[in-house]
Amino acid sequence: NNNSSTIQVKGSSELRQEDNFREKAGFKVAILGATGGIGQPLATFMKMNPLVSVLHLYGGVNTLAVTIDISHMDTPTVVHGFIREKDNLEDALTGMDLVIISACGCRKPGTTRDELFGLNAGIVKTLCEGIAKSCPQAIVNIITNPVNSMVPIAAEVFKKAGMYDPRRLFGVTMLDVVRACTFVAEILGLNPKEVDVPVVGGHHHLSILPLLSQVKPSRSFTPQEIEYLTSRIQNGGYEVVKRTAIQILNVQIHMMFVVVVASALTGKSKNRKRRSRYSIHSGYYWLQFFCYFVLVINLSPLILNLVLKYAYHSQAYATARFANACLRGLRGDPGVVECAFVASQVTELPFFASKVRLGPNGAEEIYPIGSINEYERNGLEKAKKELARSIDKGIAFVRE
Ligand code: LMR
Repeated sequence: NNNSSTIQVKGSSELRQEDNFREKAGFKVAILGATGGIGQPLATFMKMNPLVSVLHLYGGVNTLAVTIDISHMDTPTVVHGFIREKDNLEDALTGMDLVIISACGCRKPGTTRDELFGLNAGIVKTLCEGIAKSCPQAIVNIITNPVNSMVPIAAEVFKKAGMYDPRRLFGVTMLDVVRACTFVAEILGLNPKEVDVPVVGGHHHLSILPLLSQVKPSRSFTPQEIEYLTSRIQNGGYEVVKRTAIQILNVQIHMMFVVVVASALTGKSKNRKRRSRYSIHSGYYWLQFFCYFVLVINLSPLILNLVLKYAYHSQAYATARFANACLRGLRGDPGVVECAFVASQVTELPFFASKVRLGPNGAEEIYPIGSINEYERNGLEKAKKELARSIDKGIAFVRE
């Protein structure tokens, strides 16, 4: 049958029919961390991309289910799943044109992206070693936080492996641009699709620098609007994480209420012996109350982590958009320009996010910041300070 070959879900005996000739047209894309909160919607978007002929999903234990689920979508992209094991990484990466690293631990309420360094640095290093070995020519898109440190880590790994091509390595900062266009369009009463806002610097707090003086269509903003927009774009991720914190607090309050009522009810036991034991005046009551309290404090974030959302969908959307731009560049489409965090000479720092023209070799041209106002010049100095620290931390992690 001309129309059939195999979708293979690695790590299971499950084999399905697939279409051999479809693999030949289009690009091969791997998502590393495909079963996480961002990975799953990202896989959905990439399965919908007509430029993608083969999609490799590499992730945790539920990779098989996710792969089958995604493969049911009636687009021609062929999907293969690879459970996270050392041997499977090579299979997942071999022959890929574009690799998206989304594998990560997400930050919890009250923590910063920087605090994820310890959790994610080793993961990104291992995955990049796999890329260096199995698909050294691939374009690499990194969204794992802190992006400002993970891209330098990847560069160092690639240098060690002797295959580093700075044009092919990108930290994805598209989410900042997406947020900027949304928030600016809200203020201007425009369709976000008609708005262009360059965001330069990096992807963490003060390093995210929206250039509102360069907004297209050209508009001027009041100082209050500039303050509001800059802060909202810089803290967009926290807006989502904060909502999670409020939910956790709500659940804790509800659980505490249940604990107090339950303890009071046990104190009302008819059995006198039991009653005195559980009475509010007994040490036992307070010991029991304390145990419940500790349990509630520890359990509720754990439970909520399983069910609550962080910035999953907007990040998946932004990453899919940037990946599409990379693929259009690879195909040779002219004039594909997006902001990204790349090896750069735009400032004195070795990496910086600015507008980049994407082409068959990756970053074909990196554009300068352009003319900026006093407010943005101050912001740039703060951004550079923050970036320098994060970049050094990433480089030191591999070198030391
Ligand atoms: C974001 O900007 O939403 C992501 O980088 C996730 C986060 O932790 O903020």
